[in-house]
Amino acid sequence: MRELKVAMLGFGNAGRAFAELLLNKKEEIKQAYSCDVKVVAIATGSRGSLVNVAGIDLSKACRDMETLCRFDTDSRDYSEMISMEIADTVEYDLLIELTPLAIFSGQPAIDHIKAALNRGKHAVTANKGPIAWAFEDLRRLAEEQGVRFYYETTVMDGTPVFNLVEETLRMCRVTEVSGILNSTTNFILEELAKGKDYDAVIMEGKERGFVEADPSMDVEGWDAAAKTAALLNVLMGAGITPDQMDRKGIEDITIEQIRDAEARGKVIKLLCRGTIENGKVIGRVAPEEIDKNELSATIAGTSSVVSITTDLMRTISIVEHDPGIEQTGFGVFSDLIRVIVNSGK
Ligand SMILES: NC(=O)c1ccc[n+]([C@@H]2O[C@H](COP(=O)([O-])OP(=O)(O)OC[C@H]3O[C@@H](n4cnc5c(N)ncnc54)[C@H](OP(=O)(O)O)[C@@H]3O)[C@@H](O)[C@H]2O)c1
Repeated sequence: MRELKVAMLGFGNAGRAFAELLLNKKEEIKQAYSCDVKVVAIATGSRGSLVNVAGIDLSKACRDMETLCRFDTDSRDYSEMISMEIADTVEYDLLIELTPLAIFSGQPAIDHIKAALNRGKHAVTANKGPIAWAFEDLRRLAEEQGVRFYYETTVMDGTPVFNLVEETLRMCRVTEVSGILNSTTNFILEELAKGKDYDAVIMEGKERGFVEADPSMDVEGWDAAAKTAALLNVLMGAGITPDQMDRKGIEDITIEQIRDAEARGKVIKLLCRGTIENGKVIGRVAPEEIDKNELSATIAGTSSVVSITTDLMRTISIVEHDPGIEQTGFGVFSDLIRVIVNSGK
């Protein structure tokens, strides 16, 4: 039985969903892959860290975070180590990066991942910042070091997008990508179409958990731009950052525009696109009118869609229906399994 030691940076919603899944599947992983997965370190920003190279008590970590909202300072595994020290010094095989998105820099997640790769460790991330800002550097570093670097969860949670192209659509060249990738703007546009006032929609969205306390990153198209940059960097080798995207949000869309579009059999959605113009990949995020019969027009609430056009397989569309946090946990889990299968460690 081989052993895979995992260090997790970040233990919020995504980290805990992954941990619960790992606890449930630990024995099955042993049986299926002869691999004992041990979490040896977890860092948070302000709730302490846990470090134990023999394996921390993951059930207790989940329980303490739920009941105490932090790690237990009396625990035998408790540590004051911060995330970068863990990335740089703890003996692990795989680093899982789950810290919050820094939409204008991708940091400190980029440095966390570089630290792991430079030490010859595998890395998995759900944080799209590093893929939007430094994908090519990280990909090359992983290749040079002969280690695995996976990031399936960064776009559409556990829905296979990057896996699909890398593993199933081998030899296909991606020529175009489009999608609806931001659920907040989807929700706002749908509610405005019901005749509700913008401020009332934002307030209701916050109450229902669809809208962030500060919704500007979503409304102005920044979140969609980061996801689109990640998609285009991985699928089309774009080398593009979120600030280089042709970006327009939904802040100027009026109820009159929505009604006018509706009268013509159309709906307005925030569309993400990547196309090739004069040999260069161009990324664009903007509200567009879509015919009501098109697949994208039917994407409601928190669902999302991405359509990928390739030279050999033409266009494939993948829809993620009403995801919850379990789908995020699964995205990270599926990357962990890929590391086990492909690392042969
Ligand atoms: N939630 C989803 O459905 C989802 C889906 C796809 C991708 N993602 C991505 O996954 C990542 C994590 O999301 P989340 O929902 O779990 O966020 P979250 O609930 O806000 O949790 C973030 C975690 O990171 C910790 N943290 C903050 N700064 C840190 C640092 N410098 N070093 C170590 N830990 C640090 C936080 O600790 P404190 O609480 O102490 O600050 C917390 O444990 C984000 O990049 C997000 O974009 C999330």
